[in-house]
Amino acid sequence: MSESKSKIAVVTGVSEGLGRSISYELLKSGFKVIGISSNKNKILKVEKNFIKFKDKFKCHCADVRNYNDLKVIAEQIQAPDLLVLNAGIYKPIETDKANIEIYKLHIDVNFLGVLNSYFAFLKKMILQKKGTILIMSSIAGWIGLPKAGAYGPTKSALKSFAQSARYDLEKYNIKVKVCSPGFVKTKATEINSFYMPGLMEPEEAAKIILKNINSSKFEISFPLIFSCLMKLLSIIPDRWSYLLIKKIVM
Ligand SMILES: NC(=O)c1ccc[n+]([C@@H]2O[C@H](COP(=O)([O-])OP(=O)(O)OC[C@H]3O[C@@H](n4cnc5c(N)ncnc54)[C@H](OP(=O)(O)O)[C@@H]3O)[C@@H](O)[C@H]2O)c1
Repeated sequence: MSESKSKIAVVTGVSEGLGRSISYELLKSGFKVIGISSNKNKILKVEKNFIKFKDKFKCHCADVRNYNDLKVIAEQIQAPDLLVLNAGIYKPIETDKANIEIYKLHIDVNFLGVLNSYFAFLKKMILQKKGTILIMSSIAGWIGLPKAGAYGPTKSALKSFAQSARYDLEKYNIKVKVCSPGFVKTKATEINSFYMPGLMEPEEAAKIILKNINSSKFEISFPLIFSCLMKLLSIIPDRWSYLLIKKIVM
């Protein structure tokens, strides 16, 4: 990433977790980072954390559910070289107990929020005729998992969207990539009461993501052993994967 001096990255969900760690790595490698998050207090905290990069880091307070607010931010800046569509939420639920609002919330933030951010910044990237868009999906989008009935489908939808979008944006020299991490130690996973195989620190995850950002790989997935196992579970006959997952998780 050493050639990245003065390139611009827009990162949604920058105030903590993966978004904050990705931004930190980008700032270290010379990017200017325009961050977006919705909680003012958390933004103040991340600005304090990144004080040594104060000329290169600007954070906007906006909710990815609000397209117009994102559009206003996009109008104020140059076309991003890298657009990281990372903002997301995760609430473990049991489908027989949860109500419809929790599903709507996941769809609004995780799926439509990514589309809002994508469309808000896309126009300028198309005019610039270059750039990379990284869409944050999850291994939980590969196969339906217990307690992931609200979250998992939004991540499957994101991967499917990214697979389609990459055909459309190739002609503008814009690369679309998808990132499917396993378990990363953040606020989001703090609430999981089950064992999380391969759990890694967000700093380590961010390093892996940025190491692969310019590679020809469409999907960045890690950690290796866990992602291979999950890939296997998603391709073997359903009754085997069902029984295995039930045994491991429940
Ligand atoms: N942690 C994992 O194990 C894991 C694994 C696979 C994929 N992922 C994905 O990675 C992404 C980041 O997850 P994380 O674990 O880092 O979560 P996190 O620590 O909870 O951070 C989520 C970030 O998204 C922002 N955000 C949430 N709702 C938003 C909204 N409506 N508008 C704008 N920003 C919003 C939050 O900031 P504000 O509260 O300030 O808005 C925060 O900065 C998510 O898409 C998640 O699904 C995580």
